[in-house]
Amino acid sequence: MTGLENKRAIVTGGSAGIGLEIVRSLRAQGAEVTAIARNDAKLDAARDAGARAIVGDATDAGLIGSAIDTVDPDILILNAGARLAAKTLDRQNWDDFSAIWNTDVRATFVGIQAALHRPLRPGSRVLVMSSGAAMVMSLPAIKPEDLRMSGGYIGAKRMVWFMAHQANAVSRERGLNVLFQVLVPAQLMAGTELGRVVATAYADAEGITVEEHILGRYGSHLEPAQVGRQVAELLDDPAYRTGVAYGIRAGVQPFPLD
Ligand SMILES: NC(=O)c1ccc[n+]([C@@H]2O[C@H](COP(=O)([O-])OP(=O)(O)OC[C@H]3O[C@@H](n4cnc5c(N)ncnc54)[C@H](OP(=O)(O)O)[C@@H]3O)[C@@H](O)[C@H]2O)c1
Repeated sequence: MTGLENKRAIVTGGSAGIGLEIVRSLRAQGAEVTAIARNDAKLDAARDAGARAIVGDATDAGLIGSAIDTVDPDILILNAGARLAAKTLDRQNWDDFSAIWNTDVRATFVGIQAALHRPLRPGSRVLVMSSGAAMVMSLPAIKPEDLRMSGGYIGAKRMVWFMAHQANAVSRERGLNVLFQVLVPAQLMAGTELGRVVATAYADAEGITVEEHILGRYGSHLEPAQVGRQVAELLDDPAYRTGVAYGIRAGVQPFPLD
């Protein structure tokens, strides 16, 4: 029995990739999980893990509000994310460039507002999905050139990270005791649909295989299943209540970033 037994969780983008692995891990720890995504058929994977499914768009404030009213969650995971166009800037149109803002940032805005407006019950956690790419230009180890096909992704993922801080300020001011935290997977994962598209674009540009690209840049594979397991640990272990953002890398425990 863990501290997640009978907790109620909502996972946006819970039908595939990292979100599906989070769903599976939370279910394995005894949580009641509701997965939200747009494609009904793909949600069968979450249903197979014992989750309830809501078909809809995570940027729809009405849908997220009614999901929160129905589930009354202790845990809200804002993971839904758009695909990157994975093209250099000169080959993107505005829709390509802004897709991440219109999905990831908007869905985070909608989810955070719903959590603050309801508000969620005291002691609840809201996890926002950012990316290690958000640290480019503040971390010399990440070369801007290596992210040249990411369009609006960097700013969007930095924005959702900062939104968690903004939300914590409101939570403190209003004495809500709702904690907003940020997940920062620090390696591209070719094991998700989104990650595969990006890894393939860079590998093709470099004339190498996806495997060579991932191992050349990161030295190892970060598997979505590890992220899923570590999100469950992060929610269960009180040691992870102290920080706002946690980095996730292959083979190590989540590490605090701020
Ligand atoms: N893969 C990586 O290397 C990596 C690294 C760092 C961070 N991340 C972040 O992790 C998150 C998940 O990425 P992933 O690689 O697992 O992506 P993925 O395999 O493409 O899965 C995306 C999930 O989000 C759902 N989704 C997309 N738009 C949605 C919307 N408007 N409303 C509801 N659900 C929506 C998708 O289902 P439907 O399309 O059916 O709605 C799917 O369930 C994203 O925020 C991504 O930016 C990924």
